[in-house]
Amino acid sequence: MPPVVEVSNLSRTFDVSKPWLNRVLERAPKAYLKAAQDISFSIGKGETFALVGESGSGKSTVAKMVVGLLAASEGEIRIDGVDMRKSRNTAAMRGLRRRIQMIFQDPYASLNPRWRVDRIIAEPIRAFGLERGEQAISARVGELLELVRLNPRDGAKYPHEFSGGQRQRICIARALASRPEFIVCDEPTSALDVSVQAQILNLMRDLQDEFGLTYLFISHDLAVVRHMAARIGVMYLGRLVEVAKAGELFGNPQHPYTRMLLEAIPDLNMTGRPRKAVEGEIPNPINPPPGCSFHPRCPLANERCRIERPAFLTRQPATGVACHAVEEGRA
Ligand SMILES: Nc1ncnc2c1ncn2[C@@H]1O[C@H](COP(=O)(O)OP(=O)(O)OP(=O)(O)O)[C@@H](O)[C@H]1O
Ligand SMILES: [Mg+2]
Repeated sequence: MPPVVEVSNLSRTFDVSKPWLNRVLERAPKAYLKAAQDISFSIGKGETFALVGESGSGKSTVAKMVVGLLAASEGEIRIDGVDMRKSRNTAAMRGLRRRIQMIFQDPYASLNPRWRVDRIIAEPIRAFGLERGEQAISARVGELLELVRLNPRDGAKYPHEFSGGQRQRICIARALASRPEFIVCDEPTSALDVSVQAQILNLMRDLQDEFGLTYLFISHDLAVVRHMAARIGVMYLGRLVEVAKAGELFGNPQHPYTRMLLEAIPDLNMTGRPRKAVEGEIPNPINPPPGCSFHPRCPLANERCRIERPAFLTRQPATGVACHAVEEGRA
């Protein structure tokens, strides 16, 4: 079965120059920030692929490009074989729009505070003309509220009358309203209490099983990702440094950055494994280090790492790593 989502060599550069007059007076050159560079991955139908990485590594930038909220500078996004960048207004593209939805980190900011919940959830149903007549629409809204384990009567309330976890349920109900097949989730539980987090993650997994949903799941939290994803991509400074199956990534991490992230996870099994804090800071993305951009923080870095950027080496289909030390067997 071909993958539903195919992202190849996707890049996005932001112009972060000062205003023209400042540049002229200070003789400052234009400045560009490469938020995402050369990102390639694919997601099979019904699969969850996760992107992890520290803040600023470019996860949200990739998510926004995949759903079409942000234009890509370079690269290709194919969903069910339709090229999202080339087919802006074609019928194929209009059909796709209904089938792709996004869930954001901040459930309150993504809900209109002046609309009642039933109107919020009905909006995609109306926009895509999925039900005929007010009665059918309100029945469907009730059904969606029940799907996310809320009460159909909750539709009469406003977003501020709910807790954070309940609001994220409303966002999920709205996302499901258009009967999507592919959902991009950008840190859907990061703003929530840990206990509520688990409930929402379990709900998302149940919904995935029920409707055969495909997820691109984004989080900075490896424990969350482990719970959700079959395959994981680790991002560092706008690039994918390692892609592996979840079991492989946690059992046998390759890239020194992945190892560093894993060593920082609290040891819940109390095996006595020493826990190491993540060392160093992410360099300025406007002026990234030459060679491998991780080399200033890498315990294995040598001369080659400081000069030459490691290529992403595919190991098995759809997995791989970009690291000289791994390639040379020094890791
Ligand atoms: N519209 C923009 N204009 C300029 N720079 C931007 C813009 N959006 C993002 N960036 C920059 O691109 C880089 C990647 O940002 P992005 O939001 O994708 O990171 P992230 O991995 O989602 O981080 P977080 O975990 O904090 O959400 C950051 O350095 C950010 O400052
Ligand atoms: Mg983000």
